Amino acid sequence: MEDNTAQFKVIANGPLQVSGNFELFDSEGEIITRQGPVFLCRCGMSADKPFCDGSHKKSGFRG
Ligand code: FES
Repeated sequence: MEDNTAQFKVIANGPLQVSGNFELFDSEGEIITRQGPVFLCRCGMSADKPFCDGSHKKSGFRG
């Protein structure tokens, strides 16, 4: 990977936005993606973990 710079941004009351180039692995060690932007769940309610599926809005997540 040439440029492995990634940027992380906490979205108020929502997911973690990850942009740039990085490697995101699943629990089996397989690469899910190498490039953002992706939105990672912080509330624990997503049915599509590790990604945000918008469920934080219904759950009233604050953080
Ligand atoms: S942060 Fe969006 S579903 Fe969890």
